[in-house]
Amino acid sequence: MVACWNGFSKAAPTYDGNASVQDQITATLMDRLPEDLRPTSILDIGCGTGLLTRRLAERFPRARITALDAAPGMVRACRERFRDRPGMEVKEADIATWDSRRAFDLVTSSSSLQWVRPLEVLLDRLAELVTLDGLLAFAGMLKGTLAELHECRGLALPHHASAPPMPDADVWRAGLESRGFATEIETCTWMETPASPQDLFRALHAMGANGPPYGSLDRLLTRSELDRLAATYRERFGRPDGTIPATYQIGWFIARPCA
Ligand SMILES: C[S@@+](CC[C@H](N)C(=O)[O-])C[C@H]1O[C@@H](n2cnc3c(N)ncnc32)[C@H](O)[C@@H]1O
Repeated sequence: MVACWNGFSKAAPTYDGNASVQDQITATLMDRLPEDLRPTSILDIGCGTGLLTRRLAERFPRARITALDAAPGMVRACRERFRDRPGMEVKEADIATWDSRRAFDLVTSSSSLQWVRPLEVLLDRLAELVTLDGLLAFAGMLKGTLAELHECRGLALPHHASAPPMPDADVWRAGLESRGFATEIETCTWMETPASPQDLFRALHAMGANGPPYGSLDRLLTRSELDRLAATYRERFGRPDGTIPATYQIGWFIARPCA
């Protein structure tokens, strides 16, 4: 399993200020929930500082919410955000090994599940965690996210270990359907235009995404490696106005257990 949550933990204080893409993803996920949904118990996996959890708490004020994250710093920030909200429990746990002992009416996640490995273990857990008449609703980055950065890493740092690609929508669909979920999927390509490669690196770092592909499986990139990567990014993708493209592939999944 990729231990990526040290970076997330340290990034808790700077996460919200850099997570505008992630926050828009949570807003779209909320729009995709059925209007008549009335969950009494909700699990939000990889809650981070609580961007999605906050929207869930506002829309379902009476629901018992369990927000779970593996990064201690994120858990502290989320606990602080909801310290006065009754029925809110913020748990520090890795979803792949968490022993829940119960299932939930609504299981959600945003911008988190693409980090969890192995995928097969995660899918088994998701199937156990949703009640038979419940709903699994999640959104996240898909294969092809930050493709420019991946390409430049391969060119600039060919001997530096990179991560396996994120699953694509078909992989998610097959995994969910083989576990008895009927799944609706919506995908989109989202282009950000940071002012420079360094700006992109800083924002990823400030959100804790300094594991792959930005960093490596076992260590952060050195200053000179970052400089080489930035120069390659500018050469390959730099625009006349100095900005660079950073593409995200995003998927929204609404999955119901079939009888
Ligand atoms: C990019 S943040 C997303 C946070 C929030 N859901 C949002 O939309 O802003 C990803 C979060 O997933 C958490 N995470 C990654 N792998 C995890 C795992 N195996 N179990 C629990 N949380 C995990 C990280 O610690 C991090 O806080």
